[in-house]
Amino acid sequence: MSEKIQIGVVGLGLMGSSIATCILAAGHKVTSLTRHIEKESEVRKRIVNFLTQLQEEGILKEDPNTVLERLTITDDYSLFLNHEVVIESIIENVDDKKRVFQQLENVLSPNAIIGSNTSAIPVTILQSGLKHPERLLGIHWGEPAHILRFLEVICGEQSDIKYAEKIVALAEDWITFAGLFRFMDLTGIPAYLAVMKDLFPELDNSTKAPVFIEELVASGAKGVSNAQGFYPYTKESAEKWEKLFIEFTYDIRKLSEKYPKNIGDL
Ligand SMILES: NC(=O)c1ccc[n+]([C@@H]2O[C@H](COP(=O)([O-])OP(=O)(O)OC[C@H]3O[C@@H](n4cnc5c(N)ncnc54)[C@H](O)[C@@H]3O)[C@@H](O)[C@H]2O)c1
Repeated sequence: MSEKIQIGVVGLGLMGSSIATCILAAGHKVTSLTRHIEKESEVRKRIVNFLTQLQEEGILKEDPNTVLERLTITDDYSLFLNHEVVIESIIENVDDKKRVFQQLENVLSPNAIIGSNTSAIPVTILQSGLKHPERLLGIHWGEPAHILRFLEVICGEQSDIKYAEKIVALAEDWITFAGLFRFMDLTGIPAYLAVMKDLFPELDNSTKAPVFIEELVASGAKGVSNAQGFYPYTKESAEKWEKLFIEFTYDIRKLSEKYPKNIGDL
């Protein structure tokens, strides 16, 4: 279980509310900034409803009203003083997001992390003009954030990887057993290199596969099948991962059969 801290969220719309719920349910304190402080009780009601659903589903063990005591709602940036992490989730507009970052930089210490839940604005663009661009990351949830086990941590050109590592460590309890690199280990790295070489010229600005994957495949790494991959393996741990992957895939197959494509006319 990761250390519990106080995390800021800016914007309390669709995503800001579910992100705040997700962080509260993980045991942290949350300070949420809204421009519409008059709607505080409405937002609290929305968040307590989300928490109650989580409790009914057996995901949240605490009483929702006790969890809600960890939430502060404000319209005052100075309350973010001493926060180690603040996540912006306002409308998808570069200028508006940058104005939020400027206000955050006025109160945060230089090594506090600023995350943006942007859907598609490149992090490098959001970093330009900041006093400390190295601490800005994309921290991107899927909706509904409190239910999904999905989080993307994205570095821009100026991001310092140590901040991304800190967020990944904080988010670890959310993480399902395999992320992208483990998945490549499980299903065979050389095939991904071949696909990247075919598709990148058309789908990406770069026309080449990443050098580190070229080097990994050239060294003979195939993934769990030969116990050499992005992650370190022994023969035994590679077999364990392979078994877990098959069990997981059967479970997902059974679950997806519960939700057929055709649900009949409504
Ligand atoms: N909706 C999704 O499924 C989804 C998924 C992933 C990421 N996102 C991203 O999350 C962000 C928020 O999206 P959303 O769907 O919650 O939008 P939304 O319109 O529901 O919420 C945006 C909120 O930001 C508030 N806001 C606007 N400017 C502000 C400011 N300067 N300071 C404080 N609050 C401000 C608005 O009042 C509103 O409550 C966007 O960047 C969006 O691209 C959305």
